[in-house]
Amino acid sequence: MLDPEKACLVNCELFGKHAGLFESAIVPLWQGVYDSLVQRARIAEASRVLDVGTGTGEVALRLGRLVGRKGRVVGIDAQPEMLQIAMRKAKGDGSGNVEFKQMPMEEIKLPDDSFDSVVGNYSLCCCMDYEATLTECRRVLKPGGRLTYNHGGPSDPLAYQVITRIFEDYKTTTPTKKLSEIREASALQSEAVQKYRDPMVTLDTLRSIGYGEAEATVTQRVIDYKDAGSFVDEWISFDWSSEVEEIPSPEMKVFRKEAIEALRPLSKVEGFRVEADEVFFTGLKR
Ligand SMILES: C[S@@+](CC[C@H](N)C(=O)[O-])C[C@H]1O[C@@H](n2cnc3c(N)ncnc32)[C@H](O)[C@@H]1O
Repeated sequence: MLDPEKACLVNCELFGKHAGLFESAIVPLWQGVYDSLVQRARIAEASRVLDVGTGTGEVALRLGRLVGRKGRVVGIDAQPEMLQIAMRKAKGDGSGNVEFKQMPMEEIKLPDDSFDSVVGNYSLCCCMDYEATLTECRRVLKPGGRLTYNHGGPSDPLAYQVITRIFEDYKTTTPTKKLSEIREASALQSEAVQKYRDPMVTLDTLRSIGYGEAEATVTQRVIDYKDAGSFVDEWISFDWSSEVEEIPSPEMKVFRKEAIEALRPLSKVEGFRVEADEVFFTGLKR
């Protein structure tokens, strides 16, 4: 049985392993949601902002441009591989006011009352202890400072549900020790955050931790793929890669064909569109 700390390491290792792929395949699809989060965060010039679970730094770099030379942005992440890409991008961008630090969001090693804003794009949904993370975000905010973050809503889009159900039948029943550990870590992580996909539960939690004016805005995130095959390939190469490594490739070819066929009714002539529930949360440190 994995303890939460070890499970966090196992989950984060996966982000590290796929950092390059995250940057090349996911980041281009997420441009709209990055802009939306930054806009909702109402960042003032010359302010200090923390981006938790910054990944390859897309949000942090946008924030750096908004706060200007007199402001400061810190991006934190548990994974050095993600941060290396973020630092490379910041250097290329000439963003001297953005810095990146490796640390867990459940235990932010930064002083109390030190940021005007804290933001997180699809990162709190990856942590192992949601309440500890919200408590830490509040601690580092200055009084009156604002938290703004997002993640998926209560239900998965139909396309996710369809391929996930089909994939279940292809997963190995004789996993290696490594894959068993990854499965256990992923189950623990999803148990830790699952209930917070319900905006009402999260709002209650934000208020009980001491956030004022807590609000949830439910929206839809639209992701356009060239076709159903591109959608399935993204899942095969990113989300399920650890499972896929233990499935013989002829079987994966059969899976791909079956999944694309099952998704055909959801395809449009102009491509394949996924519309996912997304919730933006905000709260002020009272
Ligand atoms: C889905 S990615 C989002 C990255 C980035 N915010 C973006 O939207 O491009 C989640 C990020 O959270 C990081 N992460 C996961 N668990 C973490 C933890 N407990 N503490 C710090 N970072 C964590 C991962 O390494 C990964 O970079």
